[in-house]
Amino acid sequence: MVQSHRGLLGEIDAYVKRHRDRVQLAAPPLRVPGGEKCKNSVDSLDRVLNQVNELGIDRHSYILAIGGGAVLDMAGYAAALAHRGIRFIRVPTTVLAQCDSGVGVKNGINAFGKKNFLGTFVPPSAVLNDFEFLTTLEDRDWRSGISEAVKVALIKDASFFDHIERHAASLAKRDMALTQQVIYRCAAMHLEHIRCNNDPFEKGSSRPLDFGHWAAHKLEQLTDYELRHGEAVAIGIALDCVYSHLSGLLGSKALERILSTFETLGLQLYSPALLECEPHSPKRTLSVFAGIQEFREHLGGELTLMLLTQIGSAVNVHQVDEALYRRAIHILKER
Ligand SMILES: NC(=O)c1ccc[n+]([C@@H]2O[C@H](COP(=O)([O-])OP(=O)(O)OC[C@H]3O[C@@H](n4cnc5c(N)ncnc54)[C@H](O)[C@@H]3O)[C@@H](O)[C@H]2O)c1
Ligand SMILES: [Zn+2]
Repeated sequence: MVQSHRGLLGEIDAYVKRHRDRVQLAAPPLRVPGGEKCKNSVDSLDRVLNQVNELGIDRHSYILAIGGGAVLDMAGYAAALAHRGIRFIRVPTTVLAQCDSGVGVKNGINAFGKKNFLGTFVPPSAVLNDFEFLTTLEDRDWRSGISEAVKVALIKDASFFDHIERHAASLAKRDMALTQQVIYRCAAMHLEHIRCNNDPFEKGSSRPLDFGHWAAHKLEQLTDYELRHGEAVAIGIALDCVYSHLSGLLGSKALERILSTFETLGLQLYSPALLECEPHSPKRTLSVFAGIQEFREHLGGELTLMLLTQIGSAVNVHQVDEALYRRAIHILKER
């Protein structure tokens, strides 16, 4: 990200000099690799913790992280661990992080081949969304963030889905004004959910904002993180929507609208990893199905997946029919 915003370090320096009576930098900004790489090992986490130790950062200081969802997750986790919690400010620089992950309460890194296996729930002290950062994103990082907006619209707000559907082609072409509106509305809905749903720290087993995520998290891991989180979420949602339809919950017209909106947004609905089999499995069990159990373990308690009954409304289910999921995967493959 620093490569794309060459002036950033100088601007930070100038800002701090201008406001020296109110803010001091403990050291020049620490640079870490962007993307899932910084969550897949403890290297970046260690570097942040080392800095906290060496610079004597205390609980009344702030760690400010600038980056995509992955960097923010890792840095937020470091901030939560050191001294049992240093104040943390997020500056999200991707569409996904601005509309979804940046405004949430979760931090973490991956371990044992599982997404977000280590982590904490800690609300940030502040989140600063600066749309200027988005201008340097690769197309895929622009689009993949919109899949989280589709997610929240599908489970909560049919009129928001109508809006995304109507403007899908322009959103895919990076229309800034429209994307800003979508980010704003999506972030507001996330905050509203966290604030009003009575379960910000996920003590229950139901996790509506993780619609489509059981398969998404597994697909990220199965593809060795070739798929971006938002790209995997689009496939995961498409799969759960086709499954909702095959289960008799979701009408065919609504399903078609959802799938074609993802397509217009330039998001894939299928990955060959969906049909990968577990090694040495006589029954040719699909590897992606391990994601169901991993999802249950992560949330705790009874398995709870969200399915769609119509655009804007969802329902929890506690059992899955793997044969029906296989049919859903083949429908996506043949599309
Ligand atoms: N904590 C949460 O609640 C939560 C919610 C959703 C997703 N996530 C996590 O967020 C991560 C995905 O985040 P993401 O979609 O932001 O992708 P990302 O952080 O993986 O970044 C994607 C790529 O974009 C680059 N990048 C970032 N900002 C840029 C910019 N302004 N210009 C050019 N390049 C830039 C990064 O270096 C990286 O190569 C996943 O690890 C996911 O698990 C967390
Ligand atoms: Zn997500």
